[in-house]
Amino acid sequence: MCSGETLRIVYNEKLISRKNKDLRGDKMRIKWLGHAAFILEGSKNIVIDPFLTGNPLSPLKPEEVDADIIAVTHGHGDHLGDAVEIALKNDAPIICIHELSRFLSRKGVEAVGMNIGGTAKLKDVAVTMVQALHSADVEENDEIVSTGDAAGVIVEMDGVRVYHTGDTDVFTDMRLIAELYSPDVMLVPIGDWYTMGIKGAVKALEFVRPRFAIPMHYNTFPVIKTNPEEFRKAVKEANIETEVVILKPGEFFEI
Ligand code: NI
Ligand code: MN
Repeated sequence: MCSGETLRIVYNEKLISRKNKDLRGDKMRIKWLGHAAFILEGSKNIVIDPFLTGNPLSPLKPEEVDADIIAVTHGHGDHLGDAVEIALKNDAPIICIHELSRFLSRKGVEAVGMNIGGTAKLKDVAVTMVQALHSADVEENDEIVSTGDAAGVIVEMDGVRVYHTGDTDVFTDMRLIAELYSPDVMLVPIGDWYTMGIKGAVKALEFVRPRFAIPMHYNTFPVIKTNPEEFRKAVKEANIETEVVILKPGEFFEI
């Protein structure tokens, strides 16, 4: 789907089960699981920041998730989430920042540690780590464990490039990310408090100018309560051509 009407289909487990191979490799479905959790379904299933347990918006339980590759942007609990359980169940690698990979390796998962600027090519999918302005440590048993920096990821699969910014404020080098990777779809936090809010997210779209943007990291908790329609309106008012696609948790966008 390249132009015209946005295709938004209500989530249907039977339709998008990985067992239904006829859709795979042709189009990509970007399914939102609430907060910053997404599954990119194409020739492979790429799971990003699978915070499902404890996520009041999540339509899925970790045991219901099929993953070929998991990408985790940083160590905070609302991003690392159920990544370990999903990785172990699916025998899938977790791609993340080097220090976080060391931490995760001790949990018995295959963790692929890399760093900002690097691209991992796994199973015909390219995952590039890019900068994010955020903190990143893991909290475990009331201790803070240092696990490197926060990142965003660009996933390229089946010719579609998706930029998941991770948790971040806007930064001008998003222009450089756009120049280098030309993302088709940007997954952008709008919830404020822990990340940029609407004002920053509009500026981020101005820098990146993707064809589509899906807002995330809002309404999970009271402190990040945000109306995504206000974001859409602000993008229009800024004369940015990006189409804002507002999903409900469990819905997907097909491109
Ligand atoms: Ni965070
Ligand atoms: Mn977060």
